[in-house]
Amino acid sequence: MEVYLDNSATTQVDGKIIKLMNKYFSENYGNPSSLHDFGRRAKESLDKSREIIAKKINTNKDEIIFTSGGSESNNLALNILKEGDHLITTKIEHPSIFETAKNLERKGIKVTYLNVNKEGFVDLDELKKSINKNTKLVSIIHGNNEIGVIQDLEAIGKICKNILFHTDAVQSFCKINIDVNKFNLSLASFSSHKIHGPKGVGALYVKKGLELNKMILGGHQEMNKRGGTENVPGIVGFGEAIKLIKENDIKRIGELRDFLIKELLKIPRTRLNGSKNKRLCNNINISFELIEGEGLMLHLDMKGVKVSTGSACSSQTLEPSHVLIAIGLPHEIAHGSIRFSLSKNTTKKELLYTIKKVKEVAKLLRKISPLKDDTK
Ligand SMILES: Cc1ncc(COP(=O)(O)O)c(C=O)c1O
Repeated sequence: MEVYLDNSATTQVDGKIIKLMNKYFSENYGNPSSLHDFGRRAKESLDKSREIIAKKINTNKDEIIFTSGGSESNNLALNILKEGDHLITTKIEHPSIFETAKNLERKGIKVTYLNVNKEGFVDLDELKKSINKNTKLVSIIHGNNEIGVIQDLEAIGKICKNILFHTDAVQSFCKINIDVNKFNLSLASFSSHKIHGPKGVGALYVKKGLELNKMILGGHQEMNKRGGTENVPGIVGFGEAIKLIKENDIKRIGELRDFLIKELLKIPRTRLNGSKNKRLCNNINISFELIEGEGLMLHLDMKGVKVSTGSACSSQTLEPSHVLIAIGLPHEIAHGSIRFSLSKNTTKKELLYTIKKVKEVAKLLRKISPLKDDTK
C-alpha cells in the first residue's frame, strides 16, 4: 500500500485542474500582455483567478499579484524594507522568510525574531514591547508548516496599528478563513501547490497604495510590481484549485487528524508538538523518544508510507528543526520528530495502515537504538 502523508510539502494536482490547464497550453495560449483577442482572453482568465483569490480573503482583485510561489511572495513582501528599517518576525518562520530576514540584516535592516511558547504561540506582549519608531514591518506566519500552530492574526493585526503587517499564509490558505481587513494585513503570501493546484504559482496580496521594491525587472506585468510573462495555465489552475475546496473536506481532514493523533499517542514515549486545539486541520507532528526521525521516515518509506522529518527543506540537513528548537524541545527529541500531513485524498484505511506500520517500525528501531533510555 502507498500512503502519501506529506501534503504540507506538496499535494497531488486534481485531475479536473489538469484538464482545465491543458486548454491553456494548447488552445488559449495567448500572452496576457498582447492586445489582440488571444491576449485579451488570456488576461481575462488571469483576472478571473485574481478575483477568486481576492474574494477568498475579502479584498479586491487589483490587490492581488501573481508570483512563482510562496517563496517569491515572501521575498517580495520583506524586500519592501530599506536600510535603517526595523522588521519584527518570529523564530518559527519558513526559510523563505527566515533567510530573507538574515539577508536584510546584512543590508542594514534591524530584525527582531520573536520567541514562541511551548505550544508555538507568539507572545503578544513581547511583540508590543519590540515595536520601536523604526519598525516598518511585522511578518508572522499564519499556520506553521512544521507544527501546524495557528497564530491569532486578528489580535496581532490590532497591535500593528501604524505598521505594515505581512503574513505567510501558504499553509493556512483555504483551510482557515482569512480576512485581510479584519486582520489589518498589508501583505499576505499564498501558494497553489499546497491546495492541489500546480507548483510554481503563488500570489501576494498587496494593500492598495503600497509600493513594492520590484525584484524581477522587465515588463509592466502585474500592475508593474513583478516583471515577466505570467504563467497563465498555472494561474488558471490555482484559481480552480480554490474553487474545488469544500468546507466538508476541511472538516473531514480535521477528524482524520484527530484520529491519527489519538492513535499515535498511544505509542509509549511520544508527544504531540504544537498546539492541540489551534492547529492546521491537516498537520500532525509527533516526537518519538529514543528514535532518530530520519530512520523512522526511511523505514516507513520502505513500507509505502511517505512522511517527513520537519519541513521539506530542513529534512535535507542534519540540523534539528529550528521550529522544534524554538518550542523548547531538546535536540535529541527534536531529531526524533515526524510530520504527518493529510489532504482531502487521505482515507481512514490509509491511516489504519500507517498506524500499524509506525508501531512496528518504532518498536524495531527502539530495540536496536543506541540512544540510552535514562529513565530506567
Ligand atoms: C509556510 C510556507 N511558506 C512558504 C513556502 C514556500 O512556498 P513555495 O513552495 O510555493 O515556494 C512553504 C512551502 O513549503 C511553506 O510551507
